[in-house]
Amino acid sequence: MTEHDKNRIHTDFREKMTYGDYLDLDSILNSQNRLSDHHDEMLFIIIHQVSELWMKLTLHELWAAVDSIKEEKYQPAFKMLARVSNIQNQIIKAWDVLATMTPSEYLGFRDSLGNASGFQSYQYRMVEFALGYKTPHVLKIYEKDPELQAKLKEAYEAPGLYDVAIQALHNEGFAIDESVIDRDVTKTYEANESVEQAWTEVYQDTDRYWDLYQLAEKLVDIEDWMQQWRFRHMKTVERIIGHKKGTGGSSGVGYLKQVLDHYFFPELWNVRTKL
Ligand code: HEM
Repeated sequence: MTEHDKNRIHTDFREKMTYGDYLDLDSILNSQNRLSDHHDEMLFIIIHQVSELWMKLTLHELWAAVDSIKEEKYQPAFKMLARVSNIQNQIIKAWDVLATMTPSEYLGFRDSLGNASGFQSYQYRMVEFALGYKTPHVLKIYEKDPELQAKLKEAYEAPGLYDVAIQALHNEGFAIDESVIDRDVTKTYEANESVEQAWTEVYQDTDRYWDLYQLAEKLVDIEDWMQQWRFRHMKTVERIIGHKKGTGGSSGVGYLKQVLDHYFFPELWNVRTKL
């Protein structure tokens, strides 16, 4: 066989699946429907779509990690959570590309968005649900789509990553208050003294509680990246629209600054002061 034969590229795909078929590229690459003829609207749409695709993978990993932790299969969970952190890192980098859009460019097509806003991103809310931050307003927004609303409701009513982590502390023998173990998981998680005490002991004897210690650090990674995403979003928004109101109806940057105050896993941050 000659060198040329060895590298012969397949070109007859009349009966075979191509790369484009497998990835359904037709539907993905034909979904950038600009509402204006402004050049920069393409960037705006693609940045959002890329972020949503990464969120889809994030959810896939987070939910699988929740199941693994429930079954005390920590190693696969750590691998999935590490992947989530790397995805978050990618989405944060997307802000650099978006920041090349100036206020004048954005104003060139902003009016065509109407009231559409990332505020209505149901995947973003599902990520928040998985992290224990439960804001049900998104269920109302999607009343018009019962199938999607049912999926959202399921995610809203499911225990999150932190709930199963606390259950893991409990299984290890730490005294966790009943009010936390039996908590209503449709409510946003609130800090609890018994949980803080348990994490403190984990951090004080890392050799003994290596899995829980590693789990805690994976959660801190995710929260840390999430905050960095929120911060870059807020700053990019300020750079592009200043302090104008958002298309979703909020105060804009003021609102985005306020959400930065929320902690998903509060005790894991408190414990650092306590040690
Ligand atoms: C020019 C670019 C952007 C501007 C000016 C902008 C502006 C805003 C504003 C003002 C809000 C607050 C809600 C509102 O009143 O609309 C918001 C929320 C949000 N945006 Fe953006 N955004 C931009 C890009 C993005 C991108 C690329 C994403 C990626 C998916 C995104 C995702 C979100 C999410 C998830 C929220 C909800 C945040 C929360 O409630 O904590 N945004 N955006």
